[in-house]
Amino acid sequence: RSICAPALRRAAFSTAPSSLSPVTEHDIAHFANFLQPSSIISTLSPRPSPPDELEPYNNDWMGKYLGRSTTVLKPKTTHEVSEILKWCNQRRIGVVPQGGNTGLVGGSVPLNNEIILSLSNLNKVRSFDPVSGILVADAGCILQSLTDYVAPHNHIMPVDLGAKGSCQIGGNVATNAGGLRLLRYGSLHGTVLGLEVVLPDGTILDQLTTLRKDNTGYDLKQLFIGAEGTLGVITGVSILTPPAPQASNNVILALPSFDNVLPLYQTVKRQLSEILSAFEFIDRTAYDLAVKHGQGRALSDEDVEGAACFVLVETSGGRREHDEEKLNDLLESLLTAEKPLINTGVLSQSPAQFSSLWALREGVTEAVSKEGKPYKYDISVPLSTFQSVVDDTREHLRSKGLLHDKAVKYVIGYGHVGDGNLHLNVIADQYLPEIESALEPYIYEVVASLRGSISAEHGIGAMKTHALQYSKSPVAIELMKKIKHVFDPNGIMNPGKPIFQDSNGLAVK
Ligand code: FAD
Ligand code: MLT
Ligand code: ZN
Repeated sequence: RSICAPALRRAAFSTAPSSLSPVTEHDIAHFANFLQPSSIISTLSPRPSPPDELEPYNNDWMGKYLGRSTTVLKPKTTHEVSEILKWCNQRRIGVVPQGGNTGLVGGSVPLNNEIILSLSNLNKVRSFDPVSGILVADAGCILQSLTDYVAPHNHIMPVDLGAKGSCQIGGNVATNAGGLRLLRYGSLHGTVLGLEVVLPDGTILDQLTTLRKDNTGYDLKQLFIGAEGTLGVITGVSILTPPAPQASNNVILALPSFDNVLPLYQTVKRQLSEILSAFEFIDRTAYDLAVKHGQGRALSDEDVEGAACFVLVETSGGRREHDEEKLNDLLESLLTAEKPLINTGVLSQSPAQFSSLWALREGVTEAVSKEGKPYKYDISVPLSTFQSVVDDTREHLRSKGLLHDKAVKYVIGYGHVGDGNLHLNVIADQYLPEIESALEPYIYEVVASLRGSISAEHGIGAMKTHALQYSKSPVAIELMKKIKHVFDPNGIMNPGKPIFQDSNGLAVK
């Protein structure tokens, strides 16, 4: 998705440490000593670029957060990353690592005038072992390009998400992205085998192992998975890619009520067992928006009639006939049950239909952005509360007089049922402070009361920095601050996110 010029901006914030130094012409001259001219985009002399060249880097995917960076650096080697960080650390210049800039919590754009360190020029596959399926790649490789790289070897990436055409493997690791395959292949904490990371002082931490087993003390790489660029810059990733399934099928099930989702999940798990690879949920409004904005082909009127919500079920297995038989048996038993849990099911019959059914679910994010300005809440809550959390939020906004065309247009729910992860999206005509203050801390308090997580898979970024305490205990937050201080005592890495930092750059609160 191309990033448009900004229209709004609820933007830059004031939580970043003020003691960090601004970038100067002297710094640009230093970078020019070891970076190629094409690796420096800066509005500063000696060769100022037009400000619009910086715009895509200063604006996030949602068009919600606006940075004020004057300088983007695009190193081509790990050594260049190291030289940049060494200098920035000495000079106390803030650095924001940026991958594909598809993050949904404002983590990849600077809060102030930090340097944006784009990984997009670190984009080579380093090695692939077709026997073990272990892939070692530069952090800036686009997820889709890695998928394409391993496909002829009959492997797939263990992570898949709607942003695959733009997001980078380094960004996926830095956010610990969950996505559509977590149910089957688990989280990146399990599939990432090793990392190469440049620490804030320029030291290169080479843990790019291809070992499946390595119990030699602390597993340091885990700290960088999900650290959102606050501890160092990931430059290389070693990851275990699973064998490609020999057969994949999907079906969309239309349900008369949300109450049927849980019993349906139990039934589907029991009947499909080892071939179940996704169980994704979209409520009716999310479905209607996906269709309205051209994501996948609409189901027939007959199929959607009376549907309160939909579930997309995917199977991935070893033998087509066996899987199809299981799926057909499931559908038959669902439709002929005395009290059917579903109204109907639409089974894909071709690769094109398979993709189209997936697009109805994967395309919700894009559709929501086309419809208006999204407030995105990515929460873990008990499955049984998915619908009530969405409905209660809508009623809460109604009671505040904010549910109308000029404020909030829709409140929708979709997400990864199999992972207990609900995406609660509030779609507004524009970003307004009164909407935000109606939503926060309201939603975070609801999540905390359910002992859930305020960020299931998108991270904390700039959006939820203030809300960490709803999901982490004071003891845990204290330890996180200490870890941050060990790695980044000057507080140069992604300042202000996701832990508050004081004017010395040390974590406080
Ligand atoms: P960016 O957005 O550039 O950066 C994200 C964060 O990681 C920032 O804090 C940044 O500083 C840091 N970072 C980036 N690269 C590095 C690096 N090399 N070293 C250190 N820090 C780094 N997320 C999910 O979990 N599941 C989904 O299903 C999902 N679907 C999405 C669908 C769409 C259409 C979109 C737009 C987003 C979706 N996301 C999803 C959000 C998700 O976080 C990102 O898409 C992806 O993981 C971020 O990768 P990126 O390369 O774009 O990182
Ligand atoms: C998804 O599951 O579609 C992604 O996490 C993106 C989103 O929340 O919109
Ligand atoms: Zn998601």
